[in-house]
Amino acid sequence: MQTHKYDVVIVGAGGAGMRAALESSTRARTAVLTKLYPTRSHTGAAQGGMCAALANVEEDNWEWHTYDTVKGGDYLVDQDAAEVMAKEAIDAVLDLEKMGLPFNRTPEGRIDQRRFGGHTREHGEAPVRRSCYAADRTGHMILQTLYQNCVKQEVSFYNEFYVLDVLLSGDPRTDEDVRAAGVVAYELATGEIHVFQAKSVVFASGGFGKMFKTTSNAHTLTGDGPAMVLRRGLPLEDMEFFQFHPTGLAGLGILLSEAARGEGGILRNSENERFMERYAPTLKDLAPRDVVARAMANEVREGRGCGPNRDYVLLDLTHLEPAHIDAKLPDITEFARTYLNVEPYTEPIPVFPTAHYAMGGIPTNIRGEVLRNEKDVVPGLYAAGEVACVSVHGANRLGTNSLLDINVFGRRAGIYAAEHAHEVDFAEVAENAEAPTVQLLEELKNRPANPDRIAAIRRDLQEVMDAHVQVYRTDETCRHALAEIKKLKERYAAVSVDDKGTRYNLDLLEGVELGFLLDLAEVVALGALERKESRGGHFREDYQKRDDVNFLHHTMAYRTADGTGEEGTDIRLGKKDVVITRYEPKERTF
Ligand code: FUM
Repeated sequence: MQTHKYDVVIVGAGGAGMRAALESSTRARTAVLTKLYPTRSHTGAAQGGMCAALANVEEDNWEWHTYDTVKGGDYLVDQDAAEVMAKEAIDAVLDLEKMGLPFNRTPEGRIDQRRFGGHTREHGEAPVRRSCYAADRTGHMILQTLYQNCVKQEVSFYNEFYVLDVLLSGDPRTDEDVRAAGVVAYELATGEIHVFQAKSVVFASGGFGKMFKTTSNAHTLTGDGPAMVLRRGLPLEDMEFFQFHPTGLAGLGILLSEAARGEGGILRNSENERFMERYAPTLKDLAPRDVVARAMANEVREGRGCGPNRDYVLLDLTHLEPAHIDAKLPDITEFARTYLNVEPYTEPIPVFPTAHYAMGGIPTNIRGEVLRNEKDVVPGLYAAGEVACVSVHGANRLGTNSLLDINVFGRRAGIYAAEHAHEVDFAEVAENAEAPTVQLLEELKNRPANPDRIAAIRRDLQEVMDAHVQVYRTDETCRHALAEIKKLKERYAAVSVDDKGTRYNLDLLEGVELGFLLDLAEVVALGALERKESRGGHFREDYQKRDDVNFLHHTMAYRTADGTGEEGTDIRLGKKDVVITRYEPKERTF
C-alpha cells in the first residue's frame, strides 16, 4: 500500500475534473485521479455545443437563458443555481476560447451559435441561437483543450487509478462535524492500493447511464462517485430524473446530436408526418428533450413507428445541402453510415430515445460543496458535473447546458476546494483506512466459483431498467423493477470473478462497478415509485400531471445505517425545498 498527501484530490478527469484542476492547481497542491486516460473521458462524446447568451448572431441575454433552464427543468431547478450558470456561461465560453478551443466561427470571425432544444428568445417566443460549437465534436474539443492546458500547467495526473472509497472523519448520519479526509484508490496496472490524504476532495466522476441497455453512455459510466458517497451515509438527490435523449441511433443508442435538429433536421413518423407540430406547435422539433422523447415513444406506441417492427421514427436531413451537413454534422452522419448503413444525404435516419444523462446525483450548493442533509455541507467535500446535483437541470436538462455546467461548476469547485485547503489542516485518516476497500476486493475475488457472470447480471439489470424505468413508468413497473433488482443483488452477492490476478484486473473492477450500478438502480426505481406525478424526464402513466402541491420538492435518498428502508430496500427517502427566486411554476407549453 502507498500513501500520498495532497491539498486537493480531484476524482475524474472529464471536463468538470480538469476545469476544477486548472483552478485548484494554481492555488494548492492538487492531484487528479482518473480511472481512464483523461482524453478518453466521456466529455469527449458530447457533440452539439455549449450554450451561453453571447448574442453573437441574434439578440439574447442571460435572463432568457435562466428562464429557459428553469422551464425546461419543469420548475424543479434551483433558480439561484440556474442564474449563476447562465450569467457565468459567457465567461466560461470566452475562457475556453482563450485556452485555444477551435469554435466554429461566423463570417465576421465571432464564435458561431446554433439552435438547440428549449433555448428560446423572449421566454419561449421562438428558438434562439445560443449554442457555441465545434462542428458536432464540441465535447471532444473541450476535453482536448482542457487537457492540453492541464499539461501546460503541470497538473499531476494519476491515470488508471480507480477511486473506490471516500474517507470522511466520521459518519455523516451521526457526527455533526464530519469532514473530508481523502480517498482510497486501486491502481489498475499493479493492483496496488493507494491512500490519498486530502484537505479537499472533488468528485467529478460522471454519470451512471450504464444501468440502462439502450444508452449513449460509455461502458465506464457506472456511477462510482454517487454510489461511494451513498455507502458512506451521504444522500443522493433527484435520482429518479434520468434523461432520455430523443435521437439515439435506433437499436443501438449511439448519440445523434440534437444539433441535427438545430441545423434544420425534422422528425417524421411512418406517415411521413412532421409529428412534433402536434406536440409542440411553437418549438416543434426543438422542444425540450423530455417532450420530444415522449412524443417519439408515443408515435411508436400508437402504431406510427417505422421499420419492419414499427419501433423507431426517422430523423430527416435529406432537405439540407450535403455541404452544410458535412460542415456542421460530420461525425453523426458518419455514425449513421457506419452503424446503420444509411446515407443521410438521401435517406432519413432511424432514431429512438436513448438513456443519456442523470439530472440527479450528489447534492451540492452553488459553491460545489456536498450536502449531508437538506442544508448542511460536509466541509472539504465537493462535486461538479454530471455526478453532482446543484440542481441546475431540475427534472429535465436542456441540451448544451451540460458542457456549460461542467465548466461553470467545475471552475467553482476547483476554486473553493483550493481555498478550503488553505484554511484547514488535514483531517486524521485512520491507520487502516484502506481496509474496507481491500475487503471489498478480496471478498469478490475469493468467492467460490459460480456459473453466474458479472456481465450476465449487468445485462439483466440493463434489461430491467429499459423495460420498467424508462420513458414511461407506472407504480407496477417501478415495483417490478425493485423486485428484480433485489433478486439481481442476491445473485451479485454470490457471483465470483475469474481473474484472481493483480495486473489490469478489469474482471474485478467490473464486478465492483456492477455493485455500484445495482445500488444506484435501486435508488432510481424507488424514487420513481414514490414520485406520484409526472415532471420533466419522469413520466408516470398513472399520474400524468405535474403535482406542485405534493411534489414540488427534491428527493433526498439516504442509505440507512441499520439496513431498513422503504419498500424492502435499505434506502430512506426525504425531501429538500426547491429554490424559487424569479419564476413561479406554471404550466409548460412549447
Ligand atoms: O445532442 C447533443 O449534442 C447532446 C448535447 C447535450 O447533451 O448537451
